[in-house]
Amino acid sequence: MASFPKTRLRRTRSHDWSRRLVRESALTPDDLIWTMVVSGTADPTEPVAAMPGVERLSVAEAAKAAKRARDLGIPAIAIFPHIDPALKDADGTEALNPDGLVPRAIKAMKDAAPEVGIICDVALDPFTDHGHDGVFEGGRILNDETVEKLVAQALVQAEAGCDVIAPSDMMDGRIGAIRGALDAGGFADTMIMSYAAKYASGFYGPYRSAIGSAALQGDKKTYQMDPANAEEALREVGMDIDEGADFVMVKPGIAYLDIVARVKDAFGVPTYAFQVSGEYAMIMAAAQNGWIDGDRVMMESLACFKRAGADGVLTYFAPKAAELLNG
Ligand code: PBG
Repeated sequence: MASFPKTRLRRTRSHDWSRRLVRESALTPDDLIWTMVVSGTADPTEPVAAMPGVERLSVAEAAKAAKRARDLGIPAIAIFPHIDPALKDADGTEALNPDGLVPRAIKAMKDAAPEVGIICDVALDPFTDHGHDGVFEGGRILNDETVEKLVAQALVQAEAGCDVIAPSDMMDGRIGAIRGALDAGGFADTMIMSYAAKYASGFYGPYRSAIGSAALQGDKKTYQMDPANAEEALREVGMDIDEGADFVMVKPGIAYLDIVARVKDAFGVPTYAFQVSGEYAMIMAAAQNGWIDGDRVMMESLACFKRAGADGVLTYFAPKAAELLNG
């Protein structure tokens, strides 16, 4: 081990050029996945109260945003639907509508900017009147019945031109079932990004109002992971890779960087982190109060995902961060 005074680690920190030379990781627009809320209402944009700077976008505005992503060098957009409450039911039937909001958004965005990858969430919660991600019966979420619906939802998305199917539901066995159905349906090239280690987290709070999900009956602890667990995350990720996931994700982000690092170390596969709505809201709220420098903390937080080993970050900050990175 190097020792003082022969070694002074401050030496290489003393100039901008030497700091750049010893920098171990870098953030570029290529690392950003823009998380975007789309809405079927007539208004082109609607503000999201708990997420200053984030707006729900109409399909036409989402198509414009796809062009903006292309121009900013952002490789992909992950879309999340705000569904009209009148279309919600216990089974989340609207999730399977081939002319629904998500398929319409996919088509419009791919038409506008075919170079930008489109990632779609697979889960029933935006479409159910109980707010759960799956089939809810007798106070329980039924696993295998849910997987059947998720498979159908994924096929609707693939048919509409979605590039990456992203199951966020945490049912057991859904990656294998979706991979099999995509292959059998002629979608062998459609990719899967698994929300592999997704925790039952309070950090999702603002998202529920962003997509207008129904008031949740109970909680999601019987399917999303316990924040106390790490070994279990490695098992979840390992199983999803085995079932055919092309990309794996850890969610939430900043408080779970140990999981990101361990997943990347253990498997070496393309690994992503989701900087979720509550993380965005916390940074923005403190910035708006003048308590932190918002741009600085945004860039620092994104850079930390890269240092931890993430290959990219799903973030509501994507357009703003890309603008700063592009100078
Ligand atoms: C739904 C889903 C959630 C998020 C993405 N997909 C919420 C949840 O699981 O309750 C959270 C995104 C965010 O907080 O930004 N399956």
